[in-house]
Order: sequence, then structure tokens, then C-alpha cells
Amino acid sequence: MSLLTVSNLTKRYSRGGMTLAAVDDVSFHIEPGETLALAGPSGSGKSTIARLALRLIEPDGGRIEFEGDDFLALGGSALRARRARLQMVFQDPLAAFNPRATVARVLDDPLRIHGVAPRSERPRRIAALLERVGLAADLAPRAIHEISGGQRQRVAIARAIATKPPLIVLDEAVSALDVSVRGRILDLLLDLQREERIAYLFISHDLGVVRAVAHRVILLDAGRIAESGDARTVIDAPRSAIGKALVAAAPRLNRNRP
Ligand SMILES: Nc1ncnc2c1ncn2[C@@H]1O[C@H](COP(=O)(O)OP(=O)(O)OP(=O)(O)O)[C@@H](O)[C@H]1O
Ligand SMILES: [Mg+2]
Repeated sequence: MSLLTVSNLTKRYSRGGMTLAAVDDVSFHIEPGETLALAGPSGSGKSTIARLALRLIEPDGGRIEFEGDDFLALGGSALRARRARLQMVFQDPLAAFNPRATVARVLDDPLRIHGVAPRSERPRRIAALLERVGLAADLAPRAIHEISGGQRQRVAIARAIATKPPLIVLDEAVSALDVSVRGRILDLLLDLQREERIAYLFISHDLGVVRAVAHRVILLDAGRIAESGDARTVIDAPRSAIGKALVAAAPRLNRNRP
């Protein structure tokens, strides 16, 4: 059984009297412990797919199965319980968290809301989470806006793993970081995947990053799947027009070419 199976997913928006399919008949699956990347130009529907998969927005058509259940049919406490198993990391943790909240508070929330640990045990859990993502425990009382962008993204990852989810959706999670910090965060994500068998839906416009971390890739073009397959195979020899254009526009990839 796949962890996540998306079938014929469609999401339309109307704009100026016209209807635009932001996501148009998209199907894919994610297996436990695997990284599936979504890549494609700006506006191709990557974030819309992420939001649909997280059920932050509802589709106009299609099915989403998560751990064998009809995810779109879940409501109330069943949906809340399932949400603990499907976490997310976005590009800008300053926008995702209250910037005045402390690191401890940000990490305490999922432990409390999802009943992961009783209050007396939570400080110890928070310290362990910080250590797990390579942060010092004395960061706990600091405010989110006082720490660096790389530290904030580690806190976002710590929060995402707090409920031990089998799947994390990462939408441009490393895009705002400078190159050396980005490399270390990607290493952390790979370590966590190896050790906890977490699957990632990894959204990035950077084909170099996708090639380095993803097992499989889907290339999107205007809401549709243009091409998909093994990440290295697709990126090294794209067959679709959009794939060829994206690879040609990716300077770090071209430098490695003969
Ligand atoms: N809430 C909305 N209302 C109207 N149109 C929307 C909305 N959200 C997204 N769209 C449109 O849907 C399309 C897909 O947008 P989406 O944000 O999914 O693209 P993306 O691939 O994530 O792009 P980027 O790389 O710039 O983040 C775009 O044309 C966008 O303008
Ligand atoms: Mg986006």
C-alpha cells in the first residue's frame, strides 16, 4: 500500500471571468521512506498540489488516499488525528510561526495539541527535538525572530518531526537559505529520512537540489504532469519540452555536462 495516492486531482480558480486549472488531472503516489519531488516553472501548480495534499484547500475533483483512507472524506477528530501524520515545512518559517513565540513554544504546540507527551515530559522532548535537528537546547527560550534563517528552518523541521509523521511536505523549504546552510539542511533531511523512514513530497524549482535529494521527480507544466520518473534519469535526459527548458535554464547542472 502506498503512503499517499493522489488520483486525477483537479483544482480550478476563476480569474477575471476565466477559469484556470491550477492543477489539472494530476495523479501520483508516494511510498514510505521515499522522496518524490515536484518541479516546474513558477505558477505550474506545485504549491497548489502541496496545499491540496495537506487539505489546506479542497480540490474540485479527484481522490487523495493517505495510509489507505479516503483523506478527503475525513472530518472532525479523525482528520485532526491524521493531520499529526502529515506535516509540512514551508519556505518562510517567519511567516508560518508567530515571530514573537519562543522556540520552546513552537515545539510544545504539536506535542500538546496531538497529545504526544504530558506537560511534565515536554521540556525533555523539546530538548531532544532540538538536539535531533542540530540545535543547542539553550535556544529554547529564544524568540523565533531572534534566531537565524537556518536555525529557524531547523526549528520548523523539529516541529514537523515532533509527531513522528511518515510524510512531510516541503514547499521550497531550502530555497531561501544560502548555499552552505542549504547543504546542511538537506543533509539533515536525508539523515532523518534514513533513520525514521520519513517520506518527503519535496517541492523545489531547483533541479540541482532535486537531483541531489529526490528518488523520483514529477515535472509540472501549467498544472499538468509533463514528465515523471527516476530523478536523475529525468534531469540528465529530459524528454518533455518543459523538462528540456528547465534543464537548459539550470546553470549548476549545465556546468557538469560535456
Ligand atoms: N488562491 C488562488 N486564487 C487564484 N489563483 C491561484 C490561487 N492560488 C494559486 N493560483 C494560481 O494557480 C496557479 C498555480 O499556482 P501555484 O502557487 O501552485 O504555483 P507554483 O508552481 O507553486 O509557483 P511558484 O514556483 O511561483 O511557487 C498560478 O497560476 C496561480 O496564479
Ligand atoms: Mg509555490
